Amino acid sequence: MNILGIETSCDETAAAVVKDGRTVLSNVVYTQIPLHVPYGGVVPEIASRAHVEKIHEVVGKAMEGQTVDAVAVTYGPGLSPALIVGLNAAKGLAKALKVPLIGINHIEAHLHTPFIDTEYPIEVPALGLAISGGHTCWIDIEEYGKYEIIGQTLDDAAGEAFDKAAKLLNLGYPGGPKVDKIAKEYGLKNLIPFPKGRPRDGVTALSGLEAELCVSFSGLKTALLRYVQKCGGAEALEKAGEIPRVVASYQEAIVQAVAERTRSALKRRRYQAMIVGGGVSLNSRLRTVLTETCAEARIPLRMAQPKYCGDNGAMIAALAYYRRNHVEDAFTLDVNPSLEVGE
Ligand code: KG4
Ligand code: ZN
Repeated sequence: MNILGIETSCDETAAAVVKDGRTVLSNVVYTQIPLHVPYGGVVPEIASRAHVEKIHEVVGKAMEGQTVDAVAVTYGPGLSPALIVGLNAAKGLAKALKVPLIGINHIEAHLHTPFIDTEYPIEVPALGLAISGGHTCWIDIEEYGKYEIIGQTLDDAAGEAFDKAAKLLNLGYPGGPKVDKIAKEYGLKNLIPFPKGRPRDGVTALSGLEAELCVSFSGLKTALLRYVQKCGGAEALEKAGEIPRVVASYQEAIVQAVAERTRSALKRRRYQAMIVGGGVSLNSRLRTVLTETCAEARIPLRMAQPKYCGDNGAMIAALAYYRRNHVEDAFTLDVNPSLEVGE
């Protein structure tokens, strides 16, 4: 069964055709990053306009020479004006092709990416980690479609924490890949002991979640800001050749925070596998540390190939194959910018 997946939740206009939830037949991603660079972040109106301009070309390329048995589309979470473009295009296309339309949750799709173009078995119960520019959460996956958030960030997502630090240090947007590269070259010597993302004592915003499974990056961000100010600003740090050490220390604080919560989550129950998805799972240090963490816990770690870590249509089409019998008819669906995992 060939499913066309359409994704426009943020700053990538993407479409792909995937066979039986696993094999990618086509995968087209148009990234708008250069359009948002001057603003240091995604501007929803610019994103929406660019999606409108590109969606037909991207979908057309993905469909070239393919037969399509169903259309799947992200309907949340994400930027409302961006999501609308994809959902409307998908509705029109599914009607024209006379095939079913399947609405997909973007975060759940990220969690399916390790299975794309691989032969990993789908093992449950699994511990999921969705780690991107908008999300950082640990998810108990009882079975496909049965998810429970067991831990999350109380403020910024990990990707946001990377992007904000990069902005403060004048490294450009998006910050994650830049931080990763600089930190890798620098290594782990003589790091600054930044706070490791522990929620402050007495924090009440855990919505019933255990503090052990939650992270907070606001303290880390403030610590970085204070450090930069103490050193006389980003330019002074640059002149002193100190940026790589600061960047590597900051990245290590995020990675260790994520690893620590992951270790706590893995102790909760006997998981069959750990599944990681989202743009930040591209981070090379995070990949190394999570590999070690899962090896210690003797649990297989499933991570996506780098080309499926960022936003793409293949993950939407792939998950749709497994969810096709369990979702409502998406012709009546509206976008849901704050859709939760498991909703
Ligand atoms: O999943 P994604 O493409 O979009 C969202 O759904 O948010 O994730 C984008 C985020 C950005 O914050 C970007 O800085 C971060 O992923 N990112 C990275 C790396 N590559 C992308 N963060 C750390 N290290 C990387 N190598
Ligand atoms: Zn994403």
